[in-house]
Amino acid sequence: MNQLIIDGVTKQFGALKVLQSCDLTVERGSVVTLLGPSGCGKTTLLRSIAGFVTPDAGRIRVKGQDISRLPPNRRDVGYVFQNYALFPHLTCRDNIAYGLVVRRVPKAEIARRVSQALDLIALAAFADRYPKQLSGGQQQRVAIARALVLEPQVLLLDEPFNALDAQLRLSMQVELRKLIDRVGITSIFVTHDQQEAMALSDRVAIMRGGRIEQIGSPLEIYDRPRSCFVADFIGRANLMPTQVRAGRTEGPQAIAAALPDGPATLVARPENIDLTPGSGPGWPGKVTFLTALGPVIEYEVDCGFSVPVRAALPRHAGVETFEPGALVTARIRDEAAAVVLPGEPNHA
Ligand SMILES: Nc1ncnc2c1ncn2[C@@H]1O[C@H](COP(=O)(O)OP(=O)(O)OP(=O)(O)O)[C@@H](O)[C@H]1O
Ligand SMILES: [Mg+2]
Repeated sequence: MNQLIIDGVTKQFGALKVLQSCDLTVERGSVVTLLGPSGCGKTTLLRSIAGFVTPDAGRIRVKGQDISRLPPNRRDVGYVFQNYALFPHLTCRDNIAYGLVVRRVPKAEIARRVSQALDLIALAAFADRYPKQLSGGQQQRVAIARALVLEPQVLLLDEPFNALDAQLRLSMQVELRKLIDRVGITSIFVTHDQQEAMALSDRVAIMRGGRIEQIGSPLEIYDRPRSCFVADFIGRANLMPTQVRAGRTEGPQAIAAALPDGPATLVARPENIDLTPGSGPGWPGKVTFLTALGPVIEYEVDCGFSVPVRAALPRHAGVETFEPGALVTARIRDEAAAVVLPGEPNHA
């Protein structure tokens, strides 16, 4: 059952169309991540769901009930803000209890729910500390517990890990996902970070200019991007200009494409590009740059396109390595994994 249904939500600030008929459904207990460049409307969409922004058009339903006209405190939606926004003068325990106190929940029940929440975030021993006595990651967990303790139908998290270092961020991603699974809460998570989106979500929604451009599982989005923008935004992609003739691409590799004749873009991930020395079947080019990343070496190869072709070759014994200046041939390894999009490449 869909827990949250967003239907045609539209919002304009002055002349600026910030949300343009956004549709999104989130299944019960699942996590959808909104991913997109700065200013594309992610926070505005969250704020519309929470009730801090009133859309000009569209409806938001939770468990079948239209909540579009309800004030924020009657929506049963938890919101974790980007900057934690803990009350500095309250202990962890009192920060978490705050929403329950405001809602006049009986004292004994508050005590029970807060201690449960503290266990959930593994901070029971820190209950009486103030925010400034906690690390960034601990404060973050308190902020999440403060939203969870109200047992909302829907949990919204707006870039909650931005202030954390890379290591802590990774462990918090795993912890948050476990927590969400344990509580079974329907969540929308906002991030700039595509790896975080892929690691944490059941589905990823790519937003651009107030619209949701594509939504799907992380691997669907990665493997089958529907636009150059999406291909470029999730992972890295080679976008090579080509022409479609009679259902195949022209050029060194004729790849099947269910598109009318005309200009097209061949999309291939760096790990799907192979390099062989000298000339052969494929795109001839010259290595211009390489980055040794550990498990792979990434090459940039000038094949005469406006941007270099990127190839990521594993560092196994037996895989040839190339120096800058080497003449090579680039080839798509797995043609079935390449995507052909209509129109010329446009780089995001
Ligand atoms: N209250 C407001 N009044 C006027 N313009 C606003 C208001 N809130 C947001 N905007 C504008 O709407 C656009 C979308 O803002 P929003 O905060 O939703 O973007 P975002 O995708 O969350 O970006 P970021 O990744 O930088 O947080 C921006 O151009 C912003 O300046
Ligand atoms: Mg934002």
